[in-house]
Order: sequence, then C-alpha cells, then structure tokens
Amino acid sequence: MIGFQPLAPSLGAEVVGVDLREELAESVLATLREGLSRHLVLFFRDQVIDPKHHMALATAFGVPVAHPAYPGVEGFPAINVLESTAERPTKIDTWHTDMTFLERPPLGSILRAREIPEVGGDTMWASLYAAYEGLSARMQRYLEGLQASHSFAHGFRHSLAEPGGWDRLGDAVRRNPPVEHPVVRTHPVTGRRALFVNRLFTTHIVGLAEAESRAVLGFLFEHLETPEFTCRFRWRRDSIAFWDNRATLHRPLNDYFPARRRMERITIAGERPR
Ligand SMILES: [Fe+2]
Repeated sequence: MIGFQPLAPSLGAEVVGVDLREELAESVLATLREGLSRHLVLFFRDQVIDPKHHMALATAFGVPVAHPAYPGVEGFPAINVLESTAERPTKIDTWHTDMTFLERPPLGSILRAREIPEVGGDTMWASLYAAYEGLSARMQRYLEGLQASHSFAHGFRHSLAEPGGWDRLGDAVRRNPPVEHPVVRTHPVTGRRALFVNRLFTTHIVGLAEAESRAVLGFLFEHLETPEFTCRFRWRRDSIAFWDNRATLHRPLNDYFPARRRMERITIAGERPR
C-alpha cells in the first residue's frame, strides 16, 4: 500500500510503499499524481535505482527537457548533473522556481541524491498556494491580471560575469529572451491560485514604474519565504524529491563547503502559465 507521511502542514510528504525499480502500474501512478497535487513535493528514501528508472518515473508524468546550462549524464542527456565541489562550488543560493525564463516553465523536477555531505546541503521548498492564500483579499485583487518579466540572463548574471561566462552561456542567453507570466497563476490540475514570481528570474512587473515594481516584488519575495509556508528536507544517498514546479519555490542550503554534493535531475516540460 502506498502511503504519504506529511513533512509540514503547507507542503511535502514522504512516500512509503513504492519501489521505483519496479514497473510503475497505472494505479501506482494515479496515486502518485494525486499525492503530488495534494502535497506539492514527494520524497522517496533508499531508492537504489538506475538512470532508466529515473527516466521511467519522469516520462510517466511528461516529456523530459534538458537544462541549457548544465551537463547531462552519460547516455541520458535529459538527466542533468548538478555537482558542487571545493573547486566549483554551486552558486545557486536563492529561492526560486525552476526555469521560469521559459515560455513554458517545467511541470516539475525529479532530483536524485548521488553524493551527499555528512551534514548540510538540505533543500527547502515553499508553497505558492500558501503564499497566495496568505495575502489579504485587497492585495490578491491588486495582483490579479498583472504580468511579470522573467529572465535567464538575470538568473545567471553572476555566472555570466565570470571569466569565460559569456562564451559558455551567451548562446543560452540569446536563445532565451525575457518572457512574461501572470503574477498569479491558476494551477492547471488543481485550479488553485499560486503566486508565481521568484527572486532568481523575475525582474519586474509589467506596467509599473521601476520603484513601484521593486517595492511590490520586494514585498512578495519576502512574503513567499515565510517559514510557515515551507518544509525542509534532509537528504541521504538515494533519496529522491519530486516537486510540482507550478506550485512551489525551492532553495538549496549552501552550508557544506568544501564537501562534495552530486545530484541528478530530470525536469519535465510544462505548459504556458495562465
Ligand atoms: Fe532549482
């Protein structure tokens, strides 16, 4: 029997009773879909799987898309390697929703832990539903119908400023011009409203003066990070996190330098936010 053990009231649940090495029956997938809709992030423990099992879970939910800035696993270009070492420590230390610089940001991601520091390197998630529902009715009405601009170049500005940064990422910048998304989106499965802006990629709200946009986004970014809207996951080797990228933000905690951390991620294509 598959069960879900909630990690925090706003979001997150550990899935028990699933072996991802087995072929996933339609009834199992239906339960996982329902669990993802309800809990927004699903966690699996001790799943000693191969890349093909990782791919099988992802393709059951949609079409995998590779990230323009990260390398792939040998033989599986859609599985991105996210590695942090003493020589090349990770630079992402900001709350964000993945790849909102795309016209169709991902439906979700499935992140698998391969090498984990003895302590540290946890990840936090936050519910975009809880954030929207935590606003006053007047603020909700104000945000309704507004669009915000999201930019790859903004999200990767620190990498671009490094020596060789433009040589490495210039093509990705040209292929990913800024896009606009609604500030409040409606989830295509649950019909719930979600506050869809993030510190990493959102640059401004369309139609506001610069100072107004800065003030409103500054408030929203802080509000999104309210501890009561979050959960925190402590990784172990062979842990997996599967999040709904349409209803969550996340933030890796970079507190483990100079230890190594190696993750493998598959991102699943999503739809245009509405
Ligand atoms: Fe991310």
